Amino acid sequence: MTTLPDFDEVIDRIGTHSVKWDCMEEIYGVSPQEGISMWVADMDFRPPQVVAEALQTMLSQGIFGYWGDNRAYHAAIQWWMANRHGWTVEPEWIFTTHGLVNGTALCLDAFTQPGDSVVLMTPVYHAFARVIRASGRKVVECPLKLVEGRYEMDVDAWDAQMDGSAKMMILCSPHNPGGRVWTKAELEATAAFAKRHNLVLVSDEIHHDLVMPGHKHIPMAVAAPDQPLVMMTATSKTFNIAGGHSGNVIIADPDLRAKFAGSMAAMGISANSFGLAMSTAAYSPEGAAWVDALVAYIDGNRKVFDETVNTIPGLKSMDLQSTYLAWVDFSGTGMAPEEFIARVEKGAKVAANHGATFGLGGESYLRFNLATPRARVVEAAERLKAAFADLQ
Ligand SMILES: Cc1ncc(COP(=O)(O)O)c(C=O)c1O
Repeated sequence: MTTLPDFDEVIDRIGTHSVKWDCMEEIYGVSPQEGISMWVADMDFRPPQVVAEALQTMLSQGIFGYWGDNRAYHAAIQWWMANRHGWTVEPEWIFTTHGLVNGTALCLDAFTQPGDSVVLMTPVYHAFARVIRASGRKVVECPLKLVEGRYEMDVDAWDAQMDGSAKMMILCSPHNPGGRVWTKAELEATAAFAKRHNLVLVSDEIHHDLVMPGHKHIPMAVAAPDQPLVMMTATSKTFNIAGGHSGNVIIADPDLRAKFAGSMAAMGISANSFGLAMSTAAYSPEGAAWVDALVAYIDGNRKVFDETVNTIPGLKSMDLQSTYLAWVDFSGTGMAPEEFIARVEKGAKVAANHGATFGLGGESYLRFNLATPRARVVEAAERLKAAFADLQ
């Protein structure tokens, strides 16, 4: 029997080596005792019971050796992708990395050379640009355009930006931040853009299970079945098990696969036993029921957050189609980032990601993590209201 999760339970994470709570003071100057941590994409919820049981089984046996025999793990991935996403995956297409930032770094190694450029649609998940630059590659920022309060692609403008130096493109699908669930037409346009400019298309779909009611995620591999591409998926965001440092890079195309295999070998990557035990357990009917309950809860959280935040003059929270990451525009306050950030961190005592770190177009935003008990979300929204009370 599946035990229904109690997402309202407030679990104290301070002093548990949680980057979200134990590093917020160092990074944002907000004390974890008085503040509310709403930055890094890590949830304050326990994963489904089956995940804890998988670890308990390992603990009972008590030996923590190297991982081997991927049959159950691969079967679990195949089941999940077919059932939840209508996508058929073959076991030999699957590589297991130490998460998807690691997967991104391996793609850069496999498909580009130092000095090459990589296309990002900005604002976008900040670690992409960080690893691209750290590996001696360059970032080409192709800005998304804001149309009626949501991000849209601007492919004609991006075509004009291409000068032949870019060799790879990373799509974030669904998009972080802003939570867009890209339509089939948008995915096809992205695939055509990559083809036109000879870019290896890498589709990071880590948020694909966290889609709000009324929206449907389409895997790029389903939208563009004939195009060589690299798919990246993981259990980490879906089940809140990022500490297991495991992700999947799934490549059907034999040429891209051979190159990626070369980089995996050169970097000596092998699987994390804890991550794979948790992932195998999570991709199950019990895990699926838990995700359904989670998404309904997050949908409730985003509604209560938006209801209050959107009454604050000058603030606008984007209508999320996916993810638990509210993307709030402060430009209507007329304040410089230093001022609205100071009000949020010092006034409201809320730690949220700074928009500028997501690249062009993010400067006037803050990103708030809503995957926390509802009472905290309500409290954070009220604190924001108080911190901007003089604008009422
Ligand atoms: C789009 C995207 N990719 C990758 C990651 C991180 O992946 P990992 O923890 O597997 O390295 C995140 C985390 O928020 C993300 O939003």
